[in-house]
Amino acid sequence: MEAALRTEDLNLGINGNQILSDISMSLEKGAFAALCGRNGAGKSQLMRCLKGLRKPSSGRILLDGRESSPGERMRRIALVFQSAEMQIVSQSVEKDVAFGPENLGLDKAEVESRVEEALCLMGLEDKRRQRPQTLSGGELRKTAIAGVLAMHPSVLLLDEPFANLDYPSTLSVIRALISLHERGYTILVVSHEAEKFLAHTDTLLIMDNGRLVECGPSEDVYGALRDYGVYLPPSCSFGDLAWLKA
Ligand SMILES: Nc1ncnc2c1ncn2[C@@H]1O[C@H](COP(=O)(O)OP(=O)(O)OP(=O)(O)O)[C@@H](O)[C@H]1O
Ligand SMILES: [Mg+2]
Repeated sequence: MEAALRTEDLNLGINGNQILSDISMSLEKGAFAALCGRNGAGKSQLMRCLKGLRKPSSGRILLDGRESSPGERMRRIALVFQSAEMQIVSQSVEKDVAFGPENLGLDKAEVESRVEEALCLMGLEDKRRQRPQTLSGGELRKTAIAGVLAMHPSVLLLDEPFANLDYPSTLSVIRALISLHERGYTILVVSHEAEKFLAHTDTLLIMDNGRLVECGPSEDVYGALRDYGVYLPPSCSFGDLAWLKA
């Protein structure tokens, strides 16, 4: 089966600095993958290249086995940014979730049905008329995720989805991601908070200094995280990482 998303020898230079070097990675359809690495490793810049927001200096990005244009990736890949609140633009949760599908030019009935589906997937039905400014951090994050789900993406990228969330909100975002995974979404979560969600993932990628240094089944690769500056609780087995029961 073709990978949902694949890169070949991706390089990115910004102002003479090499930010990404020879990144060749692949996400299988339906994968729930984690991308970890210390601050400045290049994770967010890689997400921007995948999404089509930044043009790599060289290399290829393939969707379902075919070379893709940035425009196609803008449509088919969803990216929830590191600061999700910057993605919220409307006066109510439901208007915000409707914003993307409306911009796609879909008719009213289709927009309504997608909004309903996305709110339901993220458990936000009772927040639909609330103003985004009054939402909690976790609700805001889930609104941003609902907003991209309403675009019916083939791949969902989330950059630091647990940042600044308390324990219940972290759990509720993890639960939402697990439910999307069960529905067959291909998901890549960028986070250095590996201990919070790694047990639920099947694939782990580690970046360091602009390079992809490890990639494989999470259970086989997680032991390398400490070598690359990612915190794990002391003497912790992969099974122990399921402490955050979702
Ligand atoms: N416009 C730019 N000019 C120069 N360097 C840049 C620019 N944008 C990003 N960088 C550098 O690229 C490197 C990778 O940044 P990136 O944001 O991808 O890191 P990250 O792995 O997401 O880190 P964090 O965990 O802190 O979010 C950093 O060293 C950053 O300073
Ligand atoms: Mg980042």
